[in-house]
Amino acid sequence: MSSVDSPRESWATRLGFIFAAVGSAVGLGNVWRFPFQVGQEGGGAFLLIYLLFIVLVGFPAMLVEFVAGRYTERNPVGALKQLGTGLWEYVGWIFVVTGFVILSYYSVVAGWTIRYAVLGLQDGYLADVEAAEAQFVSLAVGLEAILLHALFMAVVVTVVAFGVERGIELAVKVLVPAIIVIAVGMAIYAFTLEGAGEAYTYYLAPDLEVLADDWRSIVPAAAGQAFFTLSLGMGVMLTYASYLQEDRNLATDSAIIIGFDTAIAFIVGLIVFPVLFTAGVDPAAPGPGAIFVSLAAAFGDLTLGWLVGAVFFATVAVAALSSAISLLEVLVSYLIDERGIGRVPATVALGGGLFVLGIPSALDLVLLDLFDGFADQILLVLGGLLLSVLVGWRRSDLAITELELGIGDLGPYGDAWIWAVRIPVIAALLVALTLGILGYI
Ligand code: PHE
Ligand code: NA
Repeated sequence: MSSVDSPRESWATRLGFIFAAVGSAVGLGNVWRFPFQVGQEGGGAFLLIYLLFIVLVGFPAMLVEFVAGRYTERNPVGALKQLGTGLWEYVGWIFVVTGFVILSYYSVVAGWTIRYAVLGLQDGYLADVEAAEAQFVSLAVGLEAILLHALFMAVVVTVVAFGVERGIELAVKVLVPAIIVIAVGMAIYAFTLEGAGEAYTYYLAPDLEVLADDWRSIVPAAAGQAFFTLSLGMGVMLTYASYLQEDRNLATDSAIIIGFDTAIAFIVGLIVFPVLFTAGVDPAAPGPGAIFVSLAAAFGDLTLGWLVGAVFFATVAVAALSSAISLLEVLVSYLIDERGIGRVPATVALGGGLFVLGIPSALDLVLLDLFDGFADQILLVLGGLLLSVLVGWRRSDLAITELELGIGDLGPYGDAWIWAVRIPVIAALLVALTLGILGYI
């Protein structure tokens, strides 16, 4: 095994880890998936439950992945083998399958962002929201979508095959600020729209009646979105922490990653809903097309909107690239470490398989939605749940010791963290998973 006889890869610079983790977290989950989940799950009620999941479940669960990775210095399958025995070995497998499913359609959606960047350069954004909706439907599926999916996958494969991820650091340094600046600018524009007031009420004021009526679908959707957006539940954060040789303060790092990720998603919501409400469109209607329809309409309405839009969608495509790289990296590290396959053949073979699995999603939005719901609300939550049980109940001694490296004596906070994982986190994930399965079947 490579980790035994050759020195394992590690981060080149002090900040390499945090940049890669932010690069993984910030992606289509924030810009594409978050607003359409809010729209489908009734607005503020979803936002409230989502934020609770981020803070009360996502934060402790990210620490679990970080300590498991840094302690074992292994890929997710190897890490699980080292931490548990018997059936636990198979949990790493769930991660690998999950990553494979997610990346297949993630790449299709990333293809849409490339298409919309080009659409800006063609001055093709339509200011009329209904026309923009029709345009999205015509662009999102079909041969062109398959070709763009292939193009995106090819770029991901090239980066991972040649191990040139060092470039991520630079990309993230430019990208995250760029997304924030453009999104804040757009949110200010959205604030001036006629429907803004109504949209803010919908988005920011949780309607408790909606919550009471629809909690059975809101809870699993919020849990799935929290895991998806933070790159949790499939071993990405575990793998990235496994390359750490340094005793960083993992609690501070988690807070930084979560802070950036949540801020970006939140700001995108401040753009999407005012645009939809102003046009009188039901926020649930555009579904997976929500940002493409609403942002394209907003860009279509603005002077130089074509240019701002092209830059924005291109930036999102690059953000999607750094997330996709992290997903593929987990699958590749498994094949290299556990199967002894070379990096290039492993990457190319996976890329081919991912391209094929993504084709149905590029042909039918309903299929994309099925893959997405299954991966998110079931597979990611299941992975997070099992890892929490293993680390929280069976390996808590090493977990606290590992977290203390780089922080110092945690005192009661260490126990508070472990007990949070043991009871409330596990209970919340169990409820979400059960509701997710019931909703899916
Ligand atoms: N967190 C990424 C996003 O928000 C998606 C992702 C999920 C990446 C799971 C890695 C693992 O777009
Ligand atoms: Na995210």
